[in-house]
Amino acid sequence: MDDLRDKYINLIANAADEATLEDLRVQAVGKKGEISLQMRELGKMSAEERQVAGPKLNALKDEINSALAAKKQGLADAALDERLRAEWMDVTLPARHRRVGTIHPVSQVTEEVTAIFADMGFAVAEGPQVESDWFNFDALNIPGHHPARAEMDTFYTHRAPGDDRPPHVLRTHTSPVQIRTMQAQGAPLRVIAPGRVYRADYDQTHTPMFHQIEGLAIDKDISMANLKWVLEEFVKAFFEVDDVELRFRASHFPFTEPSAEVDIRCSWEGGTLKVGEGDDWLEILGSGMVHPKVLEAGNIDPNEWQGFAFGMGIDRIAMLKYGIPDLRAFFDSDLRWLRHYGFASLDVPTLHGGLSR
Ligand code: PHE
Repeated sequence: MDDLRDKYINLIANAADEATLEDLRVQAVGKKGEISLQMRELGKMSAEERQVAGPKLNALKDEINSALAAKKQGLADAALDERLRAEWMDVTLPARHRRVGTIHPVSQVTEEVTAIFADMGFAVAEGPQVESDWFNFDALNIPGHHPARAEMDTFYTHRAPGDDRPPHVLRTHTSPVQIRTMQAQGAPLRVIAPGRVYRADYDQTHTPMFHQIEGLAIDKDISMANLKWVLEEFVKAFFEVDDVELRFRASHFPFTEPSAEVDIRCSWEGGTLKVGEGDDWLEILGSGMVHPKVLEAGNIDPNEWQGFAFGMGIDRIAMLKYGIPDLRAFFDSDLRWLRHYGFASLDVPTLHGGLSR
């Protein structure tokens, strides 16, 4: 019995897994196990022998059963320890960065421009992209025969046969929002109007859809000097330079008088644009004092009020600021391009937090 005990206690102690333990249990205390067989032998013994051997065998059976149970628990504990060791994880690590897309440079620049003008007291105004002929042209002092209509390569919508009202157009600029805002708000007012505009044109610097941002400020004594200051403040903030020289070139728009196109001083050293230095000039916008007829179309009395307006190409200034060479790629929806030129989705531009990344 002592040999039997030593044998099984040893085997149990060295068992490597639960399956081995189960085999040992069957071998020792199973129905046909060694100890069970020994117990059957009790019947053949004399009463005295049985009184000694019986309790010993029972005690041995109990000892082996508890050794099996203890070993089983030990194996389970070791397995759990191993799992805890293998599956260890530092829960204080930052969350995994998952890119869910990027902000398009046009959206980014629109936000930047809006933040800058908001700081100067300009609210955001909007108008429809499908616009009436009157808002897009007539109200802006561009009558039917005016060459500006032809120059703008306008997209026209259809009218039913027999309907001779002038067709609606895809707005060719954001200037109709000037009229809508004047009619809706009256004077004084100070707004910018970013949005999509359309012209039938397609090459490296022109796409049939592009973006403009209109500016309009109407008050009692607004002059070209205010226009110049506002644009200088804007350009310095937008291009993130301390000083910049603007050149106002006399120009002509039907809806402003006088009119000026505005260039900024820049250099193209080594193919990269630097704003504020060098001997080159780059045109960035059209502007002027709002024409009295335009104020009238907006139901504002030109004898009482005056103001300035400007219109700037958003895609154009985005290309300049972020060094993007081809305008057409803006609207290709090529994911590689978007990942390269896009902006992190939580980097909202603000004046205090920084405009660009
Ligand atoms: N609407 C003009 C354009 O698209 C720009 C402009 C706006 C000029 C306002 C003067 C004043 O070219």
